[in-house]
Amino acid sequence: MTKATEDPAGHVSDEGPGEIPRHVAVIMDGNGRWAQARGLPRTEGHRRGMESLRRIIRHASGIGVGYLTLYSFSSENWRRPAEEVGFLMSLLRFFIRRDLAELHAERVRIRVIGLREGLAPDIAALLDEAESLTAGNDGLTLVIAFNYGSRAEIAEAVRALAVEVAAGRLDPAAIDSDAIGERLFTAGLPDPDLVIRTSGEQRLSNFLLWQSAYSELVFSPVHWPDFDEARFDEAIREYNARERRFGGVGARQGVR
Ligand code: IPE
Ligand code: IPE
Ligand code: MG
Repeated sequence: MTKATEDPAGHVSDEGPGEIPRHVAVIMDGNGRWAQARGLPRTEGHRRGMESLRRIIRHASGIGVGYLTLYSFSSENWRRPAEEVGFLMSLLRFFIRRDLAELHAERVRIRVIGLREGLAPDIAALLDEAESLTAGNDGLTLVIAFNYGSRAEIAEAVRALAVEVAAGRLDPAAIDSDAIGERLFTAGLPDPDLVIRTSGEQRLSNFLLWQSAYSELVFSPVHWPDFDEARFDEAIREYNARERRFGGVGARQGVR
């Protein structure tokens, strides 16, 4: 199992990633610090971060990841300077215009989670177009979390349930975990098996709080623009070394 592998980008790792998790979610962090460390403006970090994103999408698709969720803009990122927010919006426009046709040709299915309200109408339209064009594809499901915040998502689901109860269409006794899960932006998607955060920060920052209840968390010290295919495989190897128990005792612990 120590066969050297070389991916299309030419990055070499000593081993393959091992068993591929079905759903990998990534908190792409560290663009600003990557740039600052090089005396560049933060926006340059974001531009380079988008190149990382493109590589990782292709790599994940190539190694057979079923679902890849990328945290691209949080509902709290509006707190940044207007110029930076504007740049991030333009990057999304640029990404969809440039890459949508190619992703579609690679049978990638795009799903966007987050609030459409508050986005510029042309961005909301591009996101709709990306979803509808690729809805019938059977390759990697690429979930773009944009203007996404987990607490607002859960609040929205609870509000929807309350409306149904008030209208007499739902018995409060029927509200269970599935009833909430079905009303989240991620309805129909499996929970992430692995959540990766780059840049050394060790927190979730309002990302998939409900869905990551039993996800394995892997923190990489590398800033997102430097996060490449080999680092992605490394995170999967770390995932494979973990024992998921889901509250049980686990297979590795012998019964005595
Ligand atoms: C992640 O990089 C990208 C977004 C949050 C949009 P940051 O911009 O958060 O970079 P740091 O954390 O300031 O280095
Ligand atoms: C989380 O990163 C959001 C995205 C990666 C899009 P942040 O950089 O916004 O998170 P905090 O502020 O460090 O917690
Ligand atoms: Mg950050």
